[in-house]
Amino acid sequence: MTQQKKKVSVSDLASMKGSEKIAVLTAYDYSTSLICDRAGVDVLLVGDSAGMVVLGHPSTVPVEMSEMLMFCGAVSRGAKRAMIVGDMPFGSYQPSTSMAVENAIRFIKAGCDAVKLEGGAEIADKVSAIVEAGVPVMGHIGLKPQTSSLWEGYKLQGRTADAAVRLFHDAKALENAGVFSIVLEMVASEAAEMITKKVSVPTIGIGSGPGCDGQVLVLHDLLGIYEDIKPRFVKRYAELAKPILDAVASYAQEVKAGKFPGDQNTFHMDANEAAKMGRKK
Ligand code: KIV
Repeated sequence: MTQQKKKVSVSDLASMKGSEKIAVLTAYDYSTSLICDRAGVDVLLVGDSAGMVVLGHPSTVPVEMSEMLMFCGAVSRGAKRAMIVGDMPFGSYQPSTSMAVENAIRFIKAGCDAVKLEGGAEIADKVSAIVEAGVPVMGHIGLKPQTSSLWEGYKLQGRTADAAVRLFHDAKALENAGVFSIVLEMVASEAAEMITKKVSVPTIGIGSGPGCDGQVLVLHDLLGIYEDIKPRFVKRYAELAKPILDAVASYAQEVKAGKFPGDQNTFHMDANEAAKMGRKK
């Protein structure tokens, strides 16, 4: 765990490329943000995956700006060191460049240090406008869940040499537009490694093998508390669904049996005051 206490900056991440791997994790609320920050995660991504793991939608598409801004505010109040990246939801940057810039600024006002947008060369103009407005941007190519869920579904990207070259061109377009880092989601590891070597900014992989400059996972996947989908690339560092279920079931049983609250969880009146109500001392 790194000892640095000051906020992780864009230039810190740039200097980690090739020397220290970058640990990124999603977070959506104050309490887990505090814990992840203390654990030494470099970047907390307030992902639109919140739509699935927190709000229960079948994809990330329905998440609204107002919901994302609320999650971002909570996460920013928990983290002292980690950089906070807010994920711009579907519909918040596609319609126009001015809308993209305005919404990116709303993320910064909500407490984020940067924003993330899904897309390659086709959104490079929007990325450069946001960067010119002073907001650091993280790119996201490979599997793009906001639109993949509407078209071909969740599939491995960059499986052929031609597909890998197309992804590389997207990465270059984002680099030229000024992104400080690029998420590579579900990209064949050989393609991810090639892109990582050829771009100057750090790549953050999810399901893209060990050759990336950093890794990101969805917190609920890592902790084993989201059970609807279990992608093969996820490593579960804990299986917390069962202990949470057991704890909540014990609570419900104790309430029904009159065992909770016990005396240690109960506040009492002064005995003389209770006596006035007819209680025996
Ligand atoms: O929304 C999210 O959690 C993400 C990561 C999976 C990269 O975009």
